[in-house]
Amino acid sequence: MATIESVLHENRLFTPDDSFVNQANLLNKEEYYSLCKEAEEDYEGFWGRMAREYIQWHKPFTKVLDENNHPFFKWFEDGKLNVSYNCLDRNLDANADKIAIIFESDKGNVTNITYRDLHLQVCQFANGLRSLNIKKDDRVIIYMPMSIEAVVAMQACSRIGAIHSVVFGGFSAKSLHERIVDTAAVAVITADEQMRGGRSVSLKPVVDKALEMSKTGSVSSVVIYQRTGTDIEWHSPRDIWWHELIVDKPIYCEPEWVGAEHPLFILYTSGSTGRPKGIQHSSAGYLLGAMVSMKWIFDYKPTDIFWCTADVGWITGHSYVAYGPLAMGATQVVFEGVPTFPDAGRFWKIIQSHSVTVFYTAPTAIRSLIKLGPELPEDYDLSSLRLLGSVGEPINPEAWVWYHKVVGQSRCPIVDTWWQTETGCHMIAPVPGAIPLKPGSCTFPLPGIMAAIIDEAGHEVKNEGGGLLVIKRPFPSLARTIWGNPDRFKNTYFPNDIGGKYYLAGDSAHRDSDGYFWIMGRVDDVLNISGHRLGTMEIESALVANSLVAEAAVVGKPHEIKGEVIVAFVVLKGLCPKGDDARKIAIELRNWVSKEIGPIAKPEEIRFGDNLPKTRSGKIMRRLLRAIGRGEEITQDISTLENPAILEQLKQPAI
Ligand code: PRX
Repeated sequence: MATIESVLHENRLFTPDDSFVNQANLLNKEEYYSLCKEAEEDYEGFWGRMAREYIQWHKPFTKVLDENNHPFFKWFEDGKLNVSYNCLDRNLDANADKIAIIFESDKGNVTNITYRDLHLQVCQFANGLRSLNIKKDDRVIIYMPMSIEAVVAMQACSRIGAIHSVVFGGFSAKSLHERIVDTAAVAVITADEQMRGGRSVSLKPVVDKALEMSKTGSVSSVVIYQRTGTDIEWHSPRDIWWHELIVDKPIYCEPEWVGAEHPLFILYTSGSTGRPKGIQHSSAGYLLGAMVSMKWIFDYKPTDIFWCTADVGWITGHSYVAYGPLAMGATQVVFEGVPTFPDAGRFWKIIQSHSVTVFYTAPTAIRSLIKLGPELPEDYDLSSLRLLGSVGEPINPEAWVWYHKVVGQSRCPIVDTWWQTETGCHMIAPVPGAIPLKPGSCTFPLPGIMAAIIDEAGHEVKNEGGGLLVIKRPFPSLARTIWGNPDRFKNTYFPNDIGGKYYLAGDSAHRDSDGYFWIMGRVDDVLNISGHRLGTMEIESALVANSLVAEAAVVGKPHEIKGEVIVAFVVLKGLCPKGDDARKIAIELRNWVSKEIGPIAKPEEIRFGDNLPKTRSGKIMRRLLRAIGRGEEITQDISTLENPAILEQLKQPAI
């Protein structure tokens, strides 16, 4: 892969409307280029200026960047701040009565909360956490439904300097348990249940199960938000109701002033190999990234009604629900539920009811809504929209064009934002008033982000061409380390053999003759199921944990709606099963994975074989399995394959 060929030839160009350009925060290419130039000429000066302009410091910093301990960079290190103060208290003067969150529940009930009330709730809850003896640096797991309370929980942790780790509510007890153990968390904040598409889904019982798995647990408190009021098992004195914890708690909580580098949160992300990585973010650098991207890419205005549909269990829900919009003083919609309940018009109805101006979602949601009702948006008044966004995977040009034409009524630019859990905020995305758009391209890097493409020898691909996507200079919102595993951080993102000094994103990318970036996917094998990214290793380990299974390998297969579905290749300890036997075992294994990891990891297809294709050194050759899963001819080199005969057997129809 010295260079990567691009096979997508997309020539359509969408220039932003004058009506958009005239009101944009960055009005034109010149303004965008002048910021880029400022960053190129005086990198530290540029980011220092941004940090002073955007963040309210308790104690100003004197040094911008410390690169001495590469790649463990430090930004604004001697400065002190509090992130919750920057999201809430700073808005109390001018915006106390402004609505911070418009919450719409699964059923469609709406609750509004002002900045004044959000501040009060965060303060009371933060005082509640302090009364449980939770202090600065303690880790707190948040396993919550989408709710105002989930945002309060995150903000309250940052207020007292505790480090939160949000675990997506769809993860199983085992996944939750692993994250509790890895962080050595002292508390879990959860709810009795969550609602999804009209159904209730247990949360507290999953926490109980996860905690039972640890013999000597670190967790001494479980705080439960009463979402549905169902009966739950009670473990005294460990369990505390949220509403009882905050009774009589003072309505002001002095923020814990922390250093700029204090860890704000840990968020687990799956890689293709090994256990999930606890990505650790800083306080100031992370907050700065979330804020500047709100301004530049979402073109944020105080009059906006902003809606990012992501769950707080993912990085998008951290940067563009829990932190970025609040730090900018925005009014935002927070949504519990699914895009298709009670029907596929749900998103469009929410945009209409709350006059949403900026709407940010994932290509998988867009694809499923196209399938369910390509004309549905026309039944709603979407005239409030002025900007659309996309995140999580490459958006295919046809879905882009539908999104632009039908949802955005050809009026709204689309910001296709490329970034990662590790980068904290947008890295490559169009500044919408300045950059003409090409469907499927995330266009150009943000000012101050030195993105580039290198070949495998580490040489920069300067002109048109493809290769590995890197970022050449450290940037404020970059993750600081992998929790408890700095060596893994260094080896994964700054490997000596490729790039060396550069941040290696793990994605391949291509730049066209106009300099536009096109993301071509992961270099490794991460699966993307309905917008959720899962590593192969976790699913394989779950399969192998079943007593019948000897070996397993999983690959992704494209799916029109879900992005990808999982195809699992399984070798049993006994004979390779046939007919009804095979069907029975396949069902058992699919349910098993669902229980072990969560329903999103359930394989769509299972194929049984006597063995898996392996190299002579024993490595499974997933690229061959991928071809089989997709029903493609195997045209790749199989000379390193130890057992070629196995391919024929694995090609048998899936179950
Ligand atoms: O492969 C890229 C893809 O999602 C990866 C990051 O996943 P995660 O850490 O879960 O964060 C998702 C939300 C930021 C990237 O390495 N990806 C994300 N956004 C895009 C994308 N691929 C193409 N285009 C995008 N806009």
